[in-house]
Amino acid sequence: MFGIISHKLVASTAGGSPGQPILRAAVLAMMSNYSTATKQIMVREALNSALDEEMAADPTVFLMGEEVGEYEGAYKVSKGLLRKYGPQRVVDTPITEAGFTGIGVGASCHGLRPIVEFMTFNFAMQAIDHIINSAAKTNYMSAGNINVPIVFRGPNGPAAGVGAQHSQISSHWYSSCPGLKVLAPYSSEDARGLLKTAIRDPDPVVFLENELLYGESFPVSDEVLDSSFCLPIGKAKIEKEGKDVTITAFSRMVGYALKAAEILEKEDLEAEVINLRSIRPLDRSLINNSVRKTNRLVTVEEGFPQHGVGAEICASVVEENFNYLDAPVERISGADAPMPYAANLERLALPQVEDVVRAARRACYRSVPTATTA
Ligand SMILES: *[C@@H]1O[C@H](CO)[C@@H](O)[C@H](O)[C@H]1NC(C)=O
Repeated sequence: MFGIISHKLVASTAGGSPGQPILRAAVLAMMSNYSTATKQIMVREALNSALDEEMAADPTVFLMGEEVGEYEGAYKVSKGLLRKYGPQRVVDTPITEAGFTGIGVGASCHGLRPIVEFMTFNFAMQAIDHIINSAAKTNYMSAGNINVPIVFRGPNGPAAGVGAQHSQISSHWYSSCPGLKVLAPYSSEDARGLLKTAIRDPDPVVFLENELLYGESFPVSDEVLDSSFCLPIGKAKIEKEGKDVTITAFSRMVGYALKAAEILEKEDLEAEVINLRSIRPLDRSLINNSVRKTNRLVTVEEGFPQHGVGAEICASVVEENFNYLDAPVERISGADAPMPYAANLERLALPQVEDVVRAARRACYRSVPTATTA
C-alpha cells in the first residue's frame, strides 16, 4: 500500500527526482489518508519507510534475500524498493540461506551495509554459522580492526497454524551470544526507530519481527515520521506506568501485557508495562528501577521457558533487588513443547492475556492460586 502511494506520488510530482524529499512527501500523503486526529501507520509501512530512507541516505546500504525484489517481499516489507534502487541494491537471492548470508557477512566486512532478509527466522537456522561464527566474532577476533555492520531481519515466532518448525522464537538463542545486538520491535514507532538505528549501527544486529504485527496499525507522532528519527539500542520503553506490579514483554506480547493491564486497572491494580525493545543489550537498569517501585515482577514471552528471556530477567532482578521483592517472580512463556499444529492446542501452548492477568494477581496476592489455575 505504501509503495503504491509512493509510486503514484513520484509519478505525479513535478520533476519527479527520487530521494528523501519525495519519500517524506509520500509518507505525509499516506498519512493524510488517515484523516483522524492521530496519524496511524502499519508496522510493515514503518519498516518499509525505514529501509527506504536509510537506502536513500547511504549508497552502501543494500537489501538481499529471497523474493525481496520482484515479489517485493513475502510480507511486502520491501514494496517499491526494487523499482527505486534497482537490482544492484535490492538483490533477489536463490533459496540458500547458508550461501547468501555468507555473502552478506563478507560484504559487510568490506565496507558495505547489507540488510539480509530471512523469509522467516526459522530458515536462518541454515545460516546460523555465519551469524554466530562470522558476524558476531569478527570484530573481536580482528582486534577491533574489522567492523561488521549488517542487519539480519525477518519475522520470527508463532504465527497461526504453521507448526513446530515454523513457529519458533529466536530471541533467546541469539541474545545469549556476545557480539550480537538483538532487537524486537512491537509498534510502528519501534519498527521505524529501531530499524533505522540497526542499519546505522557498526555491529551485527539481529532484528526480530513478527508476522502477525505487520498488518497492525499504530499511532505515530510527527517526530517518529521524521527521517532523523532513531531509537537507541539497549533502552526499553515504559508503555504504561503503574505502581503495583512490573510486567515485562517484547514484540507481540507487549499488546497482551497492555490488555492485561487494562483488565487489572478495573481491579485497582496498576501494572507498569515495559516494552523491552532491545533483548541484547537488555535495559537492566530500567527494569531494576521499576521493580524497586512495584516490588513485583511478571515476565511475558512466547518462547520456550528454559533459559529464556524471562529467566534472564528474573535472575537479574533477584541479583539486584532481592530485598525489594514482595512476591516470587512470575514467568509467563510458551509451553515447553514443540508447537502443535491444531489450533486449539496451539492456543494452549501460547501465553494468553488471562495468563498474564492471573500471574499479576498472584504476584499482588489478590488471588491465591489453586493447583489447577497455573
Ligand atoms: C539497581 O539500582 C540500584 C540502586 O539505584 C543500583 O545500585 C544498581 O546498580 C542498579 N542495578 C542495575 C543493574 O541497574
